[in-house]
Amino acid sequence: MAALFEHPQPAPRPPVRYGPLELPSRFLLSPLAGFTNLPFRRIVRELGGVGLGTTDLVNARGLLAGNAKTLDLISTCPEDTPFAVQIFGNEPDSMSAAARCLEERGVDSIDINMGCPVDRITKGGAGSAMMCSTDATVDLVKSVVEAVEIPVTVKMRLGWDASSITAPEFARAFEQVGVVAVAIHGRTRAQGFSGAVSRAGIRQVVEAVRSIPVVGNGDIRNIPDAARMFDETGCNAISVGRGALANPWIFRQLTEWEQTGTYGPAGTFQDRLELMRKQFGYLATQRGTERAIPAFRKMGHWYLKAMHVRAALRNDFQQAKTEAQVSAVLARIQEAGPTVGSKTGELPDFRIPVPSGPIAHW
Ligand SMILES: Cc1cc2nc3c(=O)[nH]c(=O)nc-3n(C[C@H](O)[C@H](O)[C@H](O)COP(=O)(O)O)c2cc1C
Repeated sequence: MAALFEHPQPAPRPPVRYGPLELPSRFLLSPLAGFTNLPFRRIVRELGGVGLGTTDLVNARGLLAGNAKTLDLISTCPEDTPFAVQIFGNEPDSMSAAARCLEERGVDSIDINMGCPVDRITKGGAGSAMMCSTDATVDLVKSVVEAVEIPVTVKMRLGWDASSITAPEFARAFEQVGVVAVAIHGRTRAQGFSGAVSRAGIRQVVEAVRSIPVVGNGDIRNIPDAARMFDETGCNAISVGRGALANPWIFRQLTEWEQTGTYGPAGTFQDRLELMRKQFGYLATQRGTERAIPAFRKMGHWYLKAMHVRAALRNDFQQAKTEAQVSAVLARIQEAGPTVGSKTGELPDFRIPVPSGPIAHW
């Protein structure tokens, strides 16, 4: 029987509702472009505890044009439920049309990206640049809400910079135009990924809205982090991004903790290796093995780091070009085990570093 950890249970709260949609848990997967694709969402859902899976950010115009890569981003399967697609863009017409198109495809919920700090997105007036123009942004969000019956949410940062903390004002305005929840990454755009998450800033958003759920986000890597987020912000739900790459079991642990005050350990080295093989298999089924191998390198990099695999073997994994080579290097990794700890015991925590700089191109 695996060891159980204890942490005081959070205060009981009613289930999180996105309008008519009741989420199965209050722990959500935060979108991570390049990572939160269908194979990864399937893996975390199979481990349990996920309240909602959201795609990477999807270009509204790309979707309308039927761009193959964009359509790949929104692929899903019956187990991937409830399922949200995150869209970005700064034209009300194309954003509304994209939302309608997603509703027709059976998507459960639409999320509007207002948090992305990357130049490529903000230069076109989308992502976190939307936090600079209040009226136009609220109008755009309103037009998306009115275009569809399904719930619409917004994910944003605290504001553009420390002198312009606009998230509380936006959250209030969004609630008035029918947005059913807001997710807040507790940093400004100017911060990029540096500095600490401001839980006080997230609290201001919680206090600004009347009744919609606020999803607290940023730097949640374990149960004590989540407990602090609930206690200090009063948020109703939590979304986890990088913490889920480092530990795909985190949603199960969070849900167990909420229900019982105890939770089991994250997967072992051996469990992670199996997970990695399974996820690679899902990706190969979706895209074909040839495309899956390069596409999985980024993900494999973080899996193997979190498994404490030695550098030479991680490097060999990155060099593998055929299915046989991938299998062979994974067999060698299995044979070698982790550099610290054991194959079947608990591994030391691993922290996924943040992309550097405020305008990083990740
Ligand atoms: C590599 C990477 C890609 C990201 N892609 C997106 C995205 O597509 N949409 C979005 O709203 N946020 C994106 N984010 C931000 C995360 O969803 C999240 O708000 C941020 O990483 C803080 O949460 P965390 O500490 O749990 O990772 C991304 C972050 C990273 C590190």
